[in-house]
Amino acid sequence: MTDAPSAAWDRFSAEYQRRSAIPVDTAYYGPDIPTERQLRLLGDLKGKRVVELGCGAAQSSIAFAKAGATVIGVDSSAAQLSYAHQLCAKEEVRVELRHADMAELAFLRADSVDLVFSANAFQFVEDLNRVFRQVHRVLKVGSPLVFSLPHPAWSIIDEERPDPTIGRSYFDRDPERVVWDGVEFTTYRHDFSGLYGALTRSSYRVDLIAEPSPVPSAQHSWQWRDAMELVPRTLIIRARKEGN
Ligand SMILES: C[S@@+](CC[C@H](N)C(=O)[O-])C[C@H]1O[C@@H](n2cnc3c(N)ncnc32)[C@H](O)[C@@H]1O
Repeated sequence: MTDAPSAAWDRFSAEYQRRSAIPVDTAYYGPDIPTERQLRLLGDLKGKRVVELGCGAAQSSIAFAKAGATVIGVDSSAAQLSYAHQLCAKEEVRVELRHADMAELAFLRADSVDLVFSANAFQFVEDLNRVFRQVHRVLKVGSPLVFSLPHPAWSIIDEERPDPTIGRSYFDRDPERVVWDGVEFTTYRHDFSGLYGALTRSSYRVDLIAEPSPVPSAQHSWQWRDAMELVPRTLIIRARKEGN
């Protein structure tokens, strides 16, 4: 049986942190693609109030704090947050870490946040409408929600095969079970029409969509598949809060 996302992440956290090499000096959007240093989607964060949803070990939150922001990292996995506490201490930065579901942001005041960021976490959430509504409440008018998640085209690729192979229909909208190191996760495919509809219904204006090609590198991440040369692995969206 698939664990609840927080339980699955508690079990997989140590292995995820061991396998991943996520930078702490710039925001990370996903495996094998350019970072914020190259993409420049967030602007100057000095003096800004930033919230990261699904922060994991808080590597990007730490980068935001180093850039002069006041940062709150939110994650539903205690194990991931334990790594976040250790990493913040090691990097000697202050990030407020909250053990919470990203759809429960009642601890944040309305219209108080300059940027909400999330990398590679929304695929674990079935109903993004709730998240978008909560984020809309806490953002200042005109401020962005910037998030990355698996590109919907990537979801048709069979990741178990070493060669690029289509494994399922683009029109199959069922949740997917993935197993990493014996831990089962359920992921949800969020396609362009669903994301755009949910964002506009919650009064955002989408002002940027990025589908980065992989960084040429001899040293790929553990999530690398050769199909990433042919199909975008990660989708990034920036959407700004319109009036209440
Ligand atoms: C693939 S990890 C990404 C972590 C980090 N953003 C990174 O790029 O390394 C996904 C994270 O989302 C968190 N997560 C999943 N569902 C969540 C939810 N509903 N609320 C808060 N965090 C959630 C998990 O605990 C996990 O730490």
